[in-house]
Amino acid sequence: MDAREIREKFKPAIRPIQWVGDKLVLLDQRALPFETRYIELKTVDEVAEAIRSMAVRGAPAIGITAAFGMVIAMLEKQHYTINAAMEALKRAKETLAKTRPTAVNLFWALERMYDKAVKLATETTSVRELTHLLEEEAKKIFEEELEAEIKMGLYGAELLEDGDVVLTICNAGGLATGTGLGTATAPIYIANMLGKQISVVAPETRPWQQGARLTVYELIHNKIPTTLIADTAVGLVMYKKKVNIVMVGADRITLDGHVFNKIGTLNEAVLAHEFGIPFYVVAPTSTIDSKNKPNEVEIEERNPDEVRTVRTTQGNIYITIRDVSVYNPVFDITPPKYITGVITERGIAIQPLDRNIPRIMNIYNRD
Ligand code: MRU
Repeated sequence: MDAREIREKFKPAIRPIQWVGDKLVLLDQRALPFETRYIELKTVDEVAEAIRSMAVRGAPAIGITAAFGMVIAMLEKQHYTINAAMEALKRAKETLAKTRPTAVNLFWALERMYDKAVKLATETTSVRELTHLLEEEAKKIFEEELEAEIKMGLYGAELLEDGDVVLTICNAGGLATGTGLGTATAPIYIANMLGKQISVVAPETRPWQQGARLTVYELIHNKIPTTLIADTAVGLVMYKKKVNIVMVGADRITLDGHVFNKIGTLNEAVLAHEFGIPFYVVAPTSTIDSKNKPNEVEIEERNPDEVRTVRTTQGNIYITIRDVSVYNPVFDITPPKYITGVITERGIAIQPLDRNIPRIMNIYNRD
């Protein structure tokens, strides 16, 4: 099966992001898996709040949402001149960029939309046309993400054999990218379409529990056999050979191969290295940061109550003393030496990553 056939056959079981006329409709990931609730966004502030509060989350999904947020900036108020519209876009870009710091796709999408507007502003005098063309650009970003995932899925599926058990982390699935296919899950779904039986071990992913709440929900919806484990069971699962390959997503990958992803990824990578289990990162090239060095990237720290509590259908319940001091970084950094390969839509970057990631990005002789 090639990319075109997969595209035709792929019918997403879940549609986390939809652009309907002049509004953005999001599947509210805060309510899953117990409630299927959609929220409608019509202002830039609402879009920013949806990203900040994680109604939408996952690096590519945040980028796509922000791109539509820029279209909403054009529609939310009437702009009488191109200059006024450009001012509104600048303000929207600033507001949306402040929502979450680590996923580079957010900044990538905002810059792409703003740069496109700057270029279009020299070519048109009509605010209406500018709005229409920006809407087309946001849709293109969304469509390109799905195309990239199909390609990554085909590359990754070649690494999977019938009967394989994949360990993942967090949710790097269709919910995290908005397409229904995902990054780390794309090889699994596509291998499955190709007739291979693949199952998944999903760690719960404290504190926000993306694994327990979202990955389990999504994989079961897509009929992939899934076993939920506590995060602390990862070592034993590898020791007992209950998984034979690891596939995770990424929020940002620096050119030298450092991977920023959900807290706990580093633990999995070091353990996989120790137990000789291949460790793959699956991410589109929009997740590759060609500007910053690892120590220049901000790791998001979230509300301490995420650690002090657990989520239940009745709300959050404290599991510790209410004012205990907490450190809650929600991403970690995996050094390149622990990574077998980075699967992108342009191919798989293998070791040495500091040479092969720049090659994939067509960047040569940077020193
Ligand atoms: O805090 P989150 O839920 O936005 O974190 C998501 C992740 O860490 C994912 O692994 C990453 O964004 C890749 S999603 C395809």
